[in-house]
Amino acid sequence: MAISLLPLPYADSALDPTISATTLQTHHGKHHKAYVDKTNAAIDGSDLADKSLEEIVAAAEAKGDKGLFNNSAQVWNHGFYWHSLAPETSAPAGELAAAIDASFGSLDALKQELATQGAAHFASGWVWLVAKDGKLSVEQTHDAATFSSVSGNPLLVIDLWEHAYYVDYKNLRPDYLKGVIEKHLNWDFAAENLGRGTVWAYPA
Ligand code: FE2
Repeated sequence: MAISLLPLPYADSALDPTISATTLQTHHGKHHKAYVDKTNAAIDGSDLADKSLEEIVAAAEAKGDKGLFNNSAQVWNHGFYWHSLAPETSAPAGELAAAIDASFGSLDALKQELATQGAAHFASGWVWLVAKDGKLSVEQTHDAATFSSVSGNPLLVIDLWEHAYYVDYKNLRPDYLKGVIEKHLNWDFAAENLGRGTVWAYPA
C-alpha cells in the first residue's frame, strides 16, 4: 500500500494572505508530493511496502537509510504541518490551556517562544510544541528530523524551510512566523494530540 499525498485540510487560498495560494500549491503539490513519490519509489517491492509511515520512518532511521529517512520524515512533517494550521485560529481551552499556563505562564509567552526559536533557527528545519508528562516545551529540529527527535509527543509544528515562506516574505521569516502564530495555529489539533497522548498517525 503506497503512502498517500494527504490532501490539504482546507482550500489552498484559506490561509491567504499569511500564506498565499501560490505558496500552498507549490508547497503541497510539488514539495510534499515529491517526498511522497520518492518514499513510495524507495519502499516499492520491499518489506516496508505495507508498513505505516511512522514504521517506515523508524525503520529508515534505525538502519541509517538517510535517503528514505529524509523523504519519509518530510512526508510526515508536512502532513502534521498542514493540520497544525487552520483558516482561523481558536483559543486553547481545557487541559491544553492549563498546560500552556503551567509551562509558559501564558499563551502570549508560548507564542513569543515559538516566534523567537523559529526566527533564530539556522537554515532549514521545524519548530515544535511538544508535550511530555503533561509539561509543554518548544523545540527545534533540523532538516527532515521529525517526531523521533523531539522529547515527547508533538502537538504542533511550523515549517521553517525557505520554501514555506520565501515567495510571500522573501527573507523575512519572522513576518511569516508572526502571521502563522497569530492567525493560523490550530489549537484544536494541539488539544487532540495532547489528549490522545500518542504520536499523530499520518492517514493511510
Ligand atoms: Fe516544507
